Amino acid sequence: MNRRTFLKTGTSAAIGALAASRLAFAADTEIVLSPGDPGAVINPHIYGHFIEHLGGVIYDGVWVGRNSSVPNVDGIRKQFVDDMKRIGAPNLRWPGGCFADGYHWRDGIGSAAGRPRTYNFWQRRMPAGLDATETNQFGIHEFVHLCRLLGAEPYVAANVGSGTPQEFHDWVSYCNAPVGTVSLADGRAANGDKEPFGVRYWGVGNESWGCGGTMRPAEYAALYRRFVTQFPAYNEPFLVATGPRGHSADGDIGWTTGFFEAMKGFEPPNGFSLHFYTDLRPTPLKAGDFKAPEWYEVLLRGVRLEKVIEDHWAEMGKFDATHRAKLVIDEWGVWYAPGSEIVPAYILSETITLRDAVHTGMTFDIFNRHAGKIAMANVAQSVNCIHSLFLAQGAQFVRTPVYYVFEMYRPHMGARQVPLSNPVPELTVPALAGQARLPALSASASIRDRRLTVTLTNPSVDAALSVRMRLAGGVRASEARGLILSHPDMRATNTFADPENVKPTTHPVRIVADAVVLDLPQAAVALIECDMV
Ligand code: AHR
Repeated sequence: MNRRTFLKTGTSAAIGALAASRLAFAADTEIVLSPGDPGAVINPHIYGHFIEHLGGVIYDGVWVGRNSSVPNVDGIRKQFVDDMKRIGAPNLRWPGGCFADGYHWRDGIGSAAGRPRTYNFWQRRMPAGLDATETNQFGIHEFVHLCRLLGAEPYVAANVGSGTPQEFHDWVSYCNAPVGTVSLADGRAANGDKEPFGVRYWGVGNESWGCGGTMRPAEYAALYRRFVTQFPAYNEPFLVATGPRGHSADGDIGWTTGFFEAMKGFEPPNGFSLHFYTDLRPTPLKAGDFKAPEWYEVLLRGVRLEKVIEDHWAEMGKFDATHRAKLVIDEWGVWYAPGSEIVPAYILSETITLRDAVHTGMTFDIFNRHAGKIAMANVAQSVNCIHSLFLAQGAQFVRTPVYYVFEMYRPHMGARQVPLSNPVPELTVPALAGQARLPALSASASIRDRRLTVTLTNPSVDAALSVRMRLAGGVRASEARGLILSHPDMRATNTFADPENVKPTTHPVRIVADAVVLDLPQAAVALIECDMV
């Protein structure tokens, strides 16, 4: 199948724009950028992270221990620290996930030898003969030290499912009270940290409709209020209430309606969590072995996120007209059925391919488009898990193709959004249930000082796309550089044995009068940086 048979224009406007651009530059598509008219700042927190006490995420992925032969900083894997710094990880969510609602923070403080071994929620998912007993060697001190090493904001998920408001409030005081005030603060100092941790982001439970307590929305809303009413405010908190399971067939809009209905007359939370997994577990799709229909199936399911964001935002607005509550998409990623774990004990770890990298680019473009609605987003999960940036086992460590997309999108963080009009043709693609339509290009643009950043994703597995980016408003580019993440094999991945199989390479871009033009190979994510005159 060649590009011409694949590309089908969506609207007559698109046909006009496309025809005009072909005449001038033989481009398949033209996007118009207005760098002179920038919009809102792209909140860096939408490029956030998540680690949970699950399989090989914390133990081995992050925490190797102070006496490990694996290079570490006070027990934390050094390579993880270095690479997370490299992408400017803005925040880190911990300790779960489902683990959070069974976690009692006092188990994770004090001398390492004195910490108890406790039950881990994930025990029931472990393969026969393997266990998940929690050693509590990584607790709140170790977590905050990691955040400080990264320069990332800690985002702590509190235990609502099996904890109490008092336990929650004590944890907040332990973290945030100045020494010499409450005894809990002195306890923190005695455990080695005189300075308050300054944790601002608190999740009040996790998936309270499921592993966090199988509650109904009104039951949870009542508990939420009890948990936050006497919150010890040593700083201005950002409180995140449990939101919907956005990847449910109906988008789980009922949870949002039910929660906000039950919150009528009370102050809405600052954040409302939305989980959206591109959930392939109920399908026969495999993480590392697939053909074109399975490639597109993942991308088609991934872009449903946009409508889910819009629907929940609209529903929240019916009760919270000023939108005090922002969305916090604190779990997202492509989740495949088991079968490609690094080792059996590292449950939920997956082979990450170029397909997942392309999905990441398209997801970030959705986040960027809706940056004003989203206070934070957290990939699930950063290492040795679903949609990970890194795989690690002992001395072995590899960056996945997803890592490189985070690296390429970094310039958008904190830059101002640049409006782009994108009359993009659509692809007609094969998917699991027959043919479907997918935009032939996904894009985001931003500007900081006089540097314009554009990220482009070509989702086609077999058609290159020539792109013309026209700069509106009389602005011109003086210099332009390109980086591309692609591979001739759509299943390409990075392994411990071949860690650099998929990584960005420089890519030619040309300035032609008021435009920047490039050829985008199939299955690619591109970063174009332009210095503006
Ligand atoms: O990220 C893995 C799990 O997915 C989390 O623990 C839970 O919140 C979600 O269901």
